Amino acid sequence: MSDGIPRAEEVRAMFGRISRRYDLANRVLSLGLCVGWRNALVRACAARRPGKVADLATGSGDVAFALRAALPATAEVAAYDFCEPLLEIGRARAAREGTQGLTFAQGDCLALPLPDASVDAVTIAYGVRNFEDRPRGLRELRRVVRPGGAALILEFSQPDAWFAPIHWLQVRVIAPVVAALLTGDLAAYRYLGASIAGFPDADGLARELEAAGFAKVRATRLLFGTVVLHEAEA
Ligand SMILES: C[S@@+](CC[C@H](N)C(=O)[O-])C[C@H]1O[C@@H](n2cnc3c(N)ncnc32)[C@H](O)[C@@H]1O
Repeated sequence: MSDGIPRAEEVRAMFGRISRRYDLANRVLSLGLCVGWRNALVRACAARRPGKVADLATGSGDVAFALRAALPATAEVAAYDFCEPLLEIGRARAAREGTQGLTFAQGDCLALPLPDASVDAVTIAYGVRNFEDRPRGLRELRRVVRPGGAALILEFSQPDAWFAPIHWLQVRVIAPVVAALLTGDLAAYRYLGASIAGFPDADGLARELEAAGFAKVRATRLLFGTVVLHEAEA
């Protein structure tokens, strides 16, 4: 994994190790910008007025809680991940905050526990990059979305050339050191930088989404393309 190539068992174990400090590390490393990026994803999803949404690779449910708050009470929000320690943090938060209408369940994005065409939208933030088999995972997203529904994908990407050196410094040098202090896990954040470097740019992921059977694929580049919000229709 130090090569940035995700292997499912190692990804699951890694997120389990950093689970307690994971949300804090995100906020600190992005200087809080991740909240705005997450809200852009949630707004794009809510604009489609979905009745049933699955938030995949939910982690501790950061996107799922924001969706729950943004959507009407009649909408169903189900959150899935394959890392149990993060799901437990999400469930504990839901209990603590008295959140209704949000479920957390085990679900591997490469073999989702959902019937074909069963949701209006899937959301996934920073999950696709960690798929061991990305073409298979994207086909699986396409399988569970009903015709006319959408996949909304928030993911790191390749920034504009002028911003690339700053981005490199942040993800390859600053983030591993700061995150190691916060989480005690240097390897996890070395993997973060390497996995971002190996991930396609917005056009590349658009082609992969089309190959998986999605149409009307479009990308909104955030912070000079550091992060991209991809929208694709089934
Ligand atoms: C970087 S975290 C993102 C968590 C959350 N979406 C957020 O925005 O905070 C990536 C998550 O993807 C999950 N993940 C990676 N591959 C997965 C897979 N094949 N199936 C389910 N979850 C997966 C990990 O367990 C982890 O919780």
